[in-house]
Amino acid sequence: MTSDSVQTREIAETFDDLAHDRCCKYKSKGLTASTEVLLGFLTENGLVGKTVLDLGCGTGFFALETLREGASSIKGVDLSSAAIHEANEFAKESGLQDRARFEVANAASSQHVSFDIVVMGKVLCCYPDADSLLKTASASSNGILGFVVPRDEGLMKPLMRVGTGLINLVERLRKTGFRLYLHPLRSLDRLLVDNGFQQSNKARSRFWLVFLYKRTGPGAAVQG
Ligand SMILES: C[S@@+](CC[C@H](N)C(=O)[O-])C[C@H]1O[C@@H](n2cnc3c(N)ncnc32)[C@H](O)[C@@H]1O
Repeated sequence: MTSDSVQTREIAETFDDLAHDRCCKYKSKGLTASTEVLLGFLTENGLVGKTVLDLGCGTGFFALETLREGASSIKGVDLSSAAIHEANEFAKESGLQDRARFEVANAASSQHVSFDIVVMGKVLCCYPDADSLLKTASASSNGILGFVVPRDEGLMKPLMRVGTGLINLVERLRKTGFRLYLHPLRSLDRLLVDNGFQQSNKARSRFWLVFLYKRTGPGAAVQG
């Protein structure tokens, strides 16, 4: 087994264990502050009638919220089969299953037809290869790309570095392969600009940054 497949298996197992609790938390508390901001950015920029791809969708609640706000259809992919199971159950419970598709896949190596909107909520920080995730995301988006990453800038930067170091130390002591990653924000921006996107919105919550990019240049995926 390659180190890449060991890593993706470890991520999947970590989120398999968390899937049920994450679903219950959403059902009792709703969206977190940062995902609420991301949803706000999408609605402000026109969500009605749009197709949405959620890479690293977890238990699917964000994608299902976009359907409630008027998106025409959504697709979600995640490494965790337990999360995808919860997402499919939740779609059925909500009566949205006809417009929602959830699949187990590695977003860093999957290919998708073109979507109007692609989102990645708190996914880049769980995966070592940010470039591959962003390449999939930008190749799959015809219009908008939104994502949430740790607030690794300004006065929060040292705190984020220490917090991430401590979490990774605990994971190392527990002998798991799961790690958190603080990918440099400047490299994320450069990659998106090179792929035809420009930043249009940015907001902060306590621990997270929410970004929205819009396609301004060529490179859109093929319409399916
Ligand atoms: C912190 S959770 C966030 C879930 C959801 N996006 C949200 O906003 O609540 C990160 C999710 O990303 C998924 N993930 C990480 N790397 C991935 C990859 N390469 N492909 C697909 N899913 C991935 C994990 O399995 C996990 O469900």
